Amino acid sequence: MARKILVTAALPYASGQIHLGNLLEQVQTDIWVRYQRLSGADCAFVCATDAHGTPTMLKAREEGTSPEEYAESCRAAHVRDFESFGIRFDNYYTTHSPENRALVERIYSRLLERGFIRTRTIQQAYDEEAGMFLPDRYVRGECPSCGADDQYGDSCAACGATYAPSELVNPRSILSGRPPVTRESEHKFFTLGEFESQLKTWMQASNLDRGARNKLAEWFKEGLKDWDITRDEPYFGFEVPGEKGKYFYVWLDAPVGYMASFRNLCGEGEEGERRFERYFGADSDTELYHFIGKDILYFHALFWPAVLLGAGMRTPTGVFVHGFLTVDGQKMSKSRGTFITATDFLAAGLDPEYLRYYYAAKLGPGLDDIDLQLEDFAARINSDLVGKLVNIASRCASFVQRGFGGELGPTLHDPALYEEFAAERERIGELYESRSYGKAMRSIMALADRANVWINERKPWELAKDGDRRNELHAVVTQGINLFRVLMTYVAPVLPRMSASAEEFLGAKLVWRDVDQPLLGAKIRKFKPLASRVAPKTLKSLVDVNRKQPASDAERAEPVEIDEFLRTDLRVARITRAERVPGADRLLRLTLDDGGKGRTVFAGIAGAYAPAILVGRKVVLVANLKPRKMRFGVSEGMVLAAGEGDKRVFLLSPDEGAEPGMRVR
Ligand code: 2FM
Ligand code: ZN
Repeated sequence: MARKILVTAALPYASGQIHLGNLLEQVQTDIWVRYQRLSGADCAFVCATDAHGTPTMLKAREEGTSPEEYAESCRAAHVRDFESFGIRFDNYYTTHSPENRALVERIYSRLLERGFIRTRTIQQAYDEEAGMFLPDRYVRGECPSCGADDQYGDSCAACGATYAPSELVNPRSILSGRPPVTRESEHKFFTLGEFESQLKTWMQASNLDRGARNKLAEWFKEGLKDWDITRDEPYFGFEVPGEKGKYFYVWLDAPVGYMASFRNLCGEGEEGERRFERYFGADSDTELYHFIGKDILYFHALFWPAVLLGAGMRTPTGVFVHGFLTVDGQKMSKSRGTFITATDFLAAGLDPEYLRYYYAAKLGPGLDDIDLQLEDFAARINSDLVGKLVNIASRCASFVQRGFGGELGPTLHDPALYEEFAAERERIGELYESRSYGKAMRSIMALADRANVWINERKPWELAKDGDRRNELHAVVTQGINLFRVLMTYVAPVLPRMSASAEEFLGAKLVWRDVDQPLLGAKIRKFKPLASRVAPKTLKSLVDVNRKQPASDAERAEPVEIDEFLRTDLRVARITRAERVPGADRLLRLTLDDGGKGRTVFAGIAGAYAPAILVGRKVVLVANLKPRKMRFGVSEGMVLAAGEGDKRVFLLSPDEGAEPGMRVR
């Protein structure tokens, strides 16, 4: 009976754009799923947008929309991006769904019933101005350990120390810029520690790579701590039943989102429920695999299976963990231009399948980082796909067309060689199965090399000149096309669009179990080039364009005399009201306390700031700018901000203590 498999890739956060890092994981997963399907398994692939959490809530406010609408628009963008890269989900859902709410509530009530939930009072940073508790990352300040400024509330990027936000020196909220206060709140904790031995048993039985096991062993040694699974309002998430103003932490409902996406795929009615139970019931006979990055291993290999165990549900069969994507050996970075989004990549006119192939060529089953080498990218595509693989077909096709009316011959020239190629099927299949894609690609390219050498030695272009050797020529080019067909079948999980074109050319489907049967006597179509060369610097130039360059000296404005500068009257002002301007998406109408009778200024900052978070904030005002009449009213000055475009805008604010009306110079 066919294996029944359910596969997931990590759910991308709503608040982010899909980038090459997300794609690494989705491509890795998609290749595996396609291989499973090609080889006959019944394999479903689900994913979703990870909708909940503070960032989604704040981003939505910034955009002047509801978090639900905002998350939905992100989901649509994710779907578009993944589709372009050939990621074939059975369902790409959202964690903000009725199915997810029902499942989270079911799981929580079971955990509660069985005594795995404890209530505890915690102390947490609170922003009085923004009126909310602050996630660790929303508090910044000086590192308590090395003194580096502007560090996150949980760890220091300069020295690597980890700490609690309360330990930061001169802490401030990134929302209001004010020092946070400490407030108490009651939270629910999941008793992770009680699952230690069950988790160890699960780990032994499950499909986990050695690197991941080692990591888990370290965590077991450190001891498992209870896990805080609730957050206070305001929060975008599911409210905890019976606990007013408390929400489930996004990381509790995110993995449940895997289930919910699948539940949604199963459809309504009894039939749907039966199918779902078959996969998630405690005694399920199906396989469940999660593909994730190493940064979220703790959530998937400890919290998640423990929650499932606690709720009496099946646990994952395996968790497949990959490393980070680096670009030219370094972390992706906006300032270096290496933070490349899916949209950037497509806009540069690059074929998404080339990225799939490049990733496949580099991927193995371990936790090692994968390096995208900009200069190497084109070389790899040109040499492997264009120079080796496609070359086999393009060298033989024209002979079949011109000499034999597009018909393949009745025999191969070298059946033994064909058998050797076909016999690799099992090994290459195992390499896919074990996620050793790099090895699989190397084996396939080694075969492509052999095929090309073989064709060189048979010299079809010479045979074609000799009328007496017509049959031999037919057998040789038929062999070439058949070797190509075998290799395209092997590489099909990686290159779905190219293999579809190859199927069209061959007039036959590429079927994994059919490779030992050569295609003989069949009519093939006219050959269209399946891949074209990439200019060596294409990807590199994309990065150069992406790079945010600080204004160079040449771009700076003309020098001015000091008294000329001092004619500008700069003043401290305080925003007392901020409102959107109907009909002008970029603009906010700011009412300012300027130390005098007050004034109104229109500022093009709506793309970067939600009105609500601006009230109370002090800014720098150009006070003697001549009033400007605009469509919506008169702007009586200007507030200063750094940045560029609509989104990367940073208002300038004086330090604590400056009062409205104070002169700035
Ligand atoms: O780290 C992340 O990007 C999370 N959004 C992954 C969630 S995966 C799963 F647990 F839902
Ligand atoms: Zn430090």
